[in-house]
Amino acid sequence: MLNQNSTIIVTGGAGYIGSHTIIELLQQTNYNVVSIDNFSNSTAKTFERIEAITGKQVKNLNVDICNLEALELALGKVKDPIGIIHFAAFKSVPQSVGDPLLYYHNNIASLVNILKICKKLSIANFIFSSSCSVYGNVEKLPVTEQTQFSVAESPYAHTKQMGEDIVTNFTKSESKFKSVLLRYFNPVGAHPSGFNGEYPRGRPDNLVPYITQTAAGILQKLTVFGDDYDTRDGSCIRDYIHVSDIADAHVRALNYLIENKQKKATSVFNLGTGVGVSVLEAIGSFEKVTRQKLNYEIGPRRPGDVISIYANNDFVKKELDWTPKYNLDDMMSSAWKWQVHLKDEQ
Ligand code: UD1
Repeated sequence: MLNQNSTIIVTGGAGYIGSHTIIELLQQTNYNVVSIDNFSNSTAKTFERIEAITGKQVKNLNVDICNLEALELALGKVKDPIGIIHFAAFKSVPQSVGDPLLYYHNNIASLVNILKICKKLSIANFIFSSSCSVYGNVEKLPVTEQTQFSVAESPYAHTKQMGEDIVTNFTKSESKFKSVLLRYFNPVGAHPSGFNGEYPRGRPDNLVPYITQTAAGILQKLTVFGDDYDTRDGSCIRDYIHVSDIADAHVRALNYLIENKQKKATSVFNLGTGVGVSVLEAIGSFEKVTRQKLNYEIGPRRPGDVISIYANNDFVKKELDWTPKYNLDDMMSSAWKWQVHLKDEQ
């Protein structure tokens, strides 16, 4: 793997996918890692968890990326920055439906600022956290990277569509700049050690933390958002993928850029397992691996939800030599291990 001493900047390093990616970077490469995170939706404790797993300390810059002046000041001091992995963004579909301006401001202003920094500091390698939500409701499944985007189903999804265009156009304008857009399907699960995982503030929006918190008795009951969709059991279909597999793909994408293996200035990859799983099947897997009944009920549909989506991942497997290692049961058991760990930690 990589063997240098330059620095990779990770925005949103205390977040769910950012922290798992830092763990893989520290374990698989010799790069220095600097995180930027203002803990607006995360906790500083994450860095203790990363240290417990890797034995390494990570420097975090507590800066709001929407504040260009503060960002310039902080990143100007980083030694030999050669790449940025940009995770920091808001990511709740329902919250974005209720407060679109929050999403347009935070997700777009921060991206523009971070690209300004790339230009100013001549940072040539950039990875952008995109989402399968860019595809919207599609006619043909599974989706390939060439599938045409439909209308975004939520402002969150729209910020990802816009973000991809911004990165692509910026890349075209800068001859030395290279970028990768990673379209995540549904990242779930926790580090296999059980020491790091998703840490939602307040009531979670996403399915898996909602399941584990219900099983732990923190929440009373899970509501399945609709069982009258045109799918095999009526509930929505998603491509759940283990967060450590997603993190590993980032290290490979970084290698790909730094070692100049990319064929285009901007490369796009679907990060999914290729398997569509319904909400009821996900619950079934959780109940099986944890040997407990989950308290759930069927409720109305959730606004902004895509009915069914899963990835064709042939291209990423070939180009990045990447294969997801974990299956649905692994995702559910690791998520539960993390939930139990959190209880013990308190
Ligand atoms: C969406 C995006 C995904 C993005 C993620 C960030 C799509 C297709 N995907 O994921 O790219 O990374 O937001 O948050 O838009 N559900 C319930 N009950 C609950 C919670 C969820 O039934 O309490 C159902 C949802 O209706 C959905 C599935 O579980 O069918 C997954 O939902 P969630 O975990 O919120 O992720 P997405 O909305 O699919």
